[in-house]
Amino acid sequence: MSSSSLSARGARAAATPMRIDHAPFRDAMADRYHPTHNPSGALPLNIAENRLSWPLLRSRLEEVMAAGEVPDWVPKYASHRGAAPFRVAAASFLSEHLTRCPISPDSLGVSAGATSVIEMTAHLLADAGDVAVIPAPCYPVYRQDIGNMAGVERYDLVTYHELSEIARGPTLSIGHLERARRDIEASGRRFRMLVLTTPDNPTGAIYPAPLLEEIADWCMARGIHLVVNELYGLSLIDTSHPAIRQDYHEDVSFVSFARLMADRRSDYLHLWYAVSKDLGISGFRVGMLHSHNEALLQAYENVNLSHTASNLTQWLLRAVLTDSAFMTAYLRESQMRLTESYALVVEGLRTLGVPYVPSRGSLFVWIDLSELLDEDSEAAELSLWMDLYRSARVLLTPGVGFGHTKRGCFRVVYPSVTRDELEVAVARLSSWVQDRRDTTA
Ligand SMILES: Cc1ncc(COP(=O)(O)O)c(C=O)c1O
Repeated sequence: MSSSSLSARGARAAATPMRIDHAPFRDAMADRYHPTHNPSGALPLNIAENRLSWPLLRSRLEEVMAAGEVPDWVPKYASHRGAAPFRVAAASFLSEHLTRCPISPDSLGVSAGATSVIEMTAHLLADAGDVAVIPAPCYPVYRQDIGNMAGVERYDLVTYHELSEIARGPTLSIGHLERARRDIEASGRRFRMLVLTTPDNPTGAIYPAPLLEEIADWCMARGIHLVVNELYGLSLIDTSHPAIRQDYHEDVSFVSFARLMADRRSDYLHLWYAVSKDLGISGFRVGMLHSHNEALLQAYENVNLSHTASNLTQWLLRAVLTDSAFMTAYLRESQMRLTESYALVVEGLRTLGVPYVPSRGSLFVWIDLSELLDEDSEAAELSLWMDLYRSARVLLTPGVGFGHTKRGCFRVVYPSVTRDELEVAVARLSSWVQDRRDTTA
């Protein structure tokens, strides 16, 4: 493959896979496990998708498609910030289910998934060479989302090393932010954005409201944009479930950042959301920015045309998002299914004695297999990851790329397979860990 016909950017893109685990994922999907046709097949637990609740949503969407007469606004250009009827529906959905405070349709910008929203926000808030600080470990693809088009650099802020240090929640403090600021300014760059993900990818941690408030005030006083990604805000774990409640020592409930935004009404506070994870429809490509910054919203309207979600998708989703009774029942059932699958993994890890971070939400368990590493290096982590895949046909996401210092951590996406499949995956993981321990003993 020659990239000589491309721009420098294009050549870099041609040479850089979006994720390290995409090639093995394709391989796993080509040899997917099936209880009777392919019992030794692969179980991919690496891509952040919630497949547990699609059967619940599917029939409701099919009803809308069968019964609905497509309105006249659908085939035409709409507001580049999202079609007005969709923004009304999205605002009502967010207010009722996620934020629990009123959201105005005028405060929203809609794009093709969270990825587009993140790219657009970085493009409009920061200049090329500016820095976005992200507490580590965190979602690897933020690097491309803020970097590819906007040229914003990612700074991985490490605030702890061992998983046990965050068993009670995030350790991020103002001291850490000050340290990052000094470090970034010493290199002649500008600390422009702080990105927090709550519930977090990969740890499932939730930022408590008082901590968010302290951080928001620190950011506002320094002209730093604080963006809170609540993409997993409705994928919450029931921490009172008998199989897992022993892991939680404090009551921390998810409180949307939108409440603080409503109180402060600052140009420096923003929120991201998308239907990809909570509704298990990543293929729909619908994400949202919520902000009170009027200039940002105007800029969004002016440049978002290349990132818009299709009107047909907006129309279809609109009917479901505004069906309050359906959505309430759906979310209750979805959270119950998530909790059951989460508990299955955690019980397996506990029996094995593998450390993990007790999750409060998201689709992940962040586990520590460092005891099995041949040495403390990225190469050893990747080799362990591939050994698990080749020997047990279980594919996880390796920690490389999450920006953390601790090697040997892996992300398990527990709702990416059915509960029955998850049982097989946990059994295979357990035998593999025991075999590795036996051979190194
Ligand atoms: C934290 C975070 N942000 C953004 C995304 C991308 O979401 P979307 O599919 O809506 O673009 C993901 C997907 O895994 C994610 O985990």
